[in-house]
Amino acid sequence: MQKKAETSVPIHPILTERWSPRSFDPTALISTEDMTALLEAARWAASSYNFQPWRFIISRRGDETFQKICEAISGFNQVWAPNASALVAVIVEQKTEGHIYPPIALFDTGLAVSQLTIEAHHRGFIVHQMIGFDKEKMNKTFDISGQRDCIVVLAIGRQGPAENLPEGQAREREVLPRERFPLSDLIISGDL
Ligand SMILES: Cc1cc2nc3c(=O)[nH]c(=O)nc-3n(C[C@H](O)[C@H](O)[C@H](O)COP(=O)(O)O)c2cc1C
Repeated sequence: MQKKAETSVPIHPILTERWSPRSFDPTALISTEDMTALLEAARWAASSYNFQPWRFIISRRGDETFQKICEAISGFNQVWAPNASALVAVIVEQKTEGHIYPPIALFDTGLAVSQLTIEAHHRGFIVHQMIGFDKEKMNKTFDISGQRDCIVVLAIGRQGPAENLPEGQAREREVLPRERFPLSDLIISGDL
């Protein structure tokens, strides 16, 4: 199922075609080469002072780490995320030393995830980001502490049909149109 973004002028097809499906093909796998490419895309993101504050915990469906991440994912996400080929936990490392504005590490990490997502789409994968997980449990399970914090979990895999989702919220949302604020609402001042 496609949900192409409608734009006032044409933009790159990867950007119009990317969306966040919840129906993952439960048989699909992700190769070492594809996973490496996704992380290379993230690695080469720009960051403030080139601090590169992003870190990752990689798991594939069927391994112990995947199971542990699944256990930390909250209710609604548990309906669909376990079918992903991989779950990647994204950790941000907040350096205080030398960082004038520490929250920028979160911004930098978002840039890295965005690059990962675009490379994934280019390779025929889908990525669904999740904030819906028990952060305390995740940090404890993977011994993440101090300046490190798990901020998001990525479900990565191949898209399945909407009908594969169980009836309810997840399936309903799968077919809803994608929405955005009008561009004019985003511009505080200045002409296009
Ligand atoms: C940081 C972040 C966290 C998100 N957390 C969840 C989540 O926990 N569960 C979920 O179903 N979707 C989650 N989403 C997906 C958003 O709901 C989705 O990106 C948004 O509705 C826009 O839809 P689109 O990505 O299909 O364009 C998250 C997205 C982002 C960027």
